[in-house]
Amino acid sequence: MSEPDYGELKQRAAKVWGLGDYPKIAATIIGAARSLMDACAISAGQEVLDVAAGNGNLALLAAEEGADVVASDISPGQIALGRARTEAEGVDVEWVEADAEELPFEDDRFDCAASVFGAMFAPRPEVAARELFRVVKPGGTVGLAAWGHYGSQAEVFDALSRFAPPPPAGLPEPRDWGEEDIARQRLEPLASTVVTERRRMHWEFDSFEQIWETFQSAGPGAAAREALSPEALEEAKRAVGEVIDRWNLADDGRVVVEPEYLEIVARKRG
Ligand SMILES: C[S@@+](CC[C@H](N)C(=O)[O-])C[C@H]1O[C@@H](n2cnc3c(N)ncnc32)[C@H](O)[C@@H]1O
Repeated sequence: MSEPDYGELKQRAAKVWGLGDYPKIAATIIGAARSLMDACAISAGQEVLDVAAGNGNLALLAAEEGADVVASDISPGQIALGRARTEAEGVDVEWVEADAEELPFEDDRFDCAASVFGAMFAPRPEVAARELFRVVKPGGTVGLAAWGHYGSQAEVFDALSRFAPPPPAGLPEPRDWGEEDIARQRLEPLASTVVTERRRMHWEFDSFEQIWETFQSAGPGAAAREALSPEALEEAKRAVGEVIDRWNLADDGRVVVEPEYLEIVARKRG
């Protein structure tokens, strides 16, 4: 079997993640950035790298805490959004366009390299893991938040994947990062300790229409909206609606769901 064309995959990721209105998605997942900040004990004076930072949820929180922050992402569109956001907030964050599998930083530089639903999308997990550990100081932390194959969001992703072209053969599924045994297998060779915790976010939307709009507002969701026929889009909406109905905690027309994910904190060997 021939190798996937990684260059092409990354070019596509850079383009797709620049589509639409990403801040809408970022607003739904900022709780995971807050939680990972606490789990990694990010504090003033530390050097922190936010990998696959998007528009900088974690970068912004870490800078507000007083850390010295670099944010990197493969997508120029995300970098532009992030730079504008941190400038508007008046916090000092250095923005760098970079692939998580090839970080342009020296060895042993950061106290913490963290990635919220970001590095999980690099197509070669072992390469990304090696890079994250390389740029962290001995004794420093690598923190990850990753979706897994469980909970409401996994079912949403599964429903949507039926309407997307199949991924190239030979690629690991990004959501494998959210499986504790797989995350450990990838990180334990590089770490002195690996601590994992299943966490939940709490999402409230006024209606199903609103959560559906949010899913399609940026990145792969926005790309699907552009690519699908109106009939296929309607079918995808119905399929996602069935999932949300099953998981909805509200019965008053709103949508309240608590999607689960895996939070991982690994310490680099000293
Ligand atoms: C779901 S978003 C998460 C962004 C951000 N961490 C947050 O919490 O909002 C996924 C991000 O991963 C980035 N990404 C995907 N593949 C990447 C790669 N190989 N290297 C660096 N960034 C990547 C995308 O550009 C996108 O910004």
